[in-house]
Amino acid sequence: MNRIFSSFDVADSRSIAIADDVENAPELCVIVPTFNECDNVAILVERLDGVLTGIDWEVVFVDDNSADGTAARVRALGASDRRVRCICRIGRRGLSSACIEGMLSTTATLIAVIDADLQHDETLLPYMRDALVEENADVVVASRYVSSGAADGLASHGRKRLSRLGAELARRLLKSDLADPVSGFFMLRRKLIDGLAPNLSGIGTKILIDVLASSPRPLRVVELPYRFRARHSGESKLDALTGVEYILLLAEKISGGHFPRRFFMFALVGASGVLVNLIVLRLAMLTGKVGFTPAEALGTAAAMTSNFLLNNSLTYRDCRLGGWQAVRGFASFACCCSLGALTSITLARDLYELTGLWVLAGVAGAVVGALLNYALTSIFTWQRGT
Ligand code: GDD
Ligand code: MN
Repeated sequence: MNRIFSSFDVADSRSIAIADDVENAPELCVIVPTFNECDNVAILVERLDGVLTGIDWEVVFVDDNSADGTAARVRALGASDRRVRCICRIGRRGLSSACIEGMLSTTATLIAVIDADLQHDETLLPYMRDALVEENADVVVASRYVSSGAADGLASHGRKRLSRLGAELARRLLKSDLADPVSGFFMLRRKLIDGLAPNLSGIGTKILIDVLASSPRPLRVVELPYRFRARHSGESKLDALTGVEYILLLAEKISGGHFPRRFFMFALVGASGVLVNLIVLRLAMLTGKVGFTPAEALGTAAAMTSNFLLNNSLTYRDCRLGGWQAVRGFASFACCCSLGALTSITLARDLYELTGLWVLAGVAGAVVGALLNYALTSIFTWQRGT
């Protein structure tokens, strides 16, 4: 008997196919954020292959278009081993945001996050899986600071002290008793991330804190000790700004996501611009060769330039403009800020005429100018929403 397919049948067969796909999903997906790690990725895959026997696994490298060709190296590995995948992000930077995108790319039941530089002990992964399942935990953290764990691999005494300080700060502010909340090596269930993803900040490097602090319910966390090793090849990507990003992340988490961190950074940079303006104005006047107006124009140009450079490397560190894009960005920044300044001056003048209160007029002009500059440059210079 001939069977006529209805659209219902077609839809039905598709949903069966999707259900099958889910059943075929790997048990574990290992997420590896990478930035210039080309000499480490093959060794990591080899070690994962050795240690994850009996587990259906895949590995997703999330690379921020590293200049050393890390992404190409990962793709070459993936060409002969379908468990190896690569997400290459262009014009983006950031360890946490890379981990989030990697975690959202998989259908695996369990997700682990591990560094590419072999500092994390991959032999712990099967134990982390067992602990997660047997102890019905939400998250299993590989910890340097529980007994028999160690942080020997941290590059210097300074780094060790900073790491402990960071952990202490997080424990106090997040009211958590976790020994190593700044660990970058952990495992959790994908379902947890699916639910939390919209609340994650994605700023900086501390993705575990982001996850723990974004959950509306207290999470059951188990810590397993391990020895943090020295980096295999290449160098650490963490710098002084990593600390600033860490503070901003904590502020955002404590405020329940209401802390306007980008605007805060933009305002700080703006304040530094006022200083630059005054210093250049004073220096130009001191030469005795330029009058007030050209000296002030020079000061304004210097402030605009330093504001652009600082915002590009601090406020918008995760999507910094480079090369010609930076030149175009500077031109649009200058246009937007001129518009902001014009609005600010007009508003202050009108308010002063209306009320006679110069402080009120000045402050209102500055606040509106800053908000307008922020909104306009966010949209036109760095091409993001506000
Ligand atoms: N995609 C991407 N983008 N990956 C990045 C970026 C980035 O901007 N910055 C760093 N990574 C990758 C590195 O390539 C490496 O695989 C991993 O993130 C860790 O970076 P490191 O530069 O090696 O950091 P670390 O050793 O100083 O500190 C790490 O270990 C600590 C202890 O576990 C970080 O993972 C910390 O978050 C962690 O607490
Ligand atoms: Mn490292």
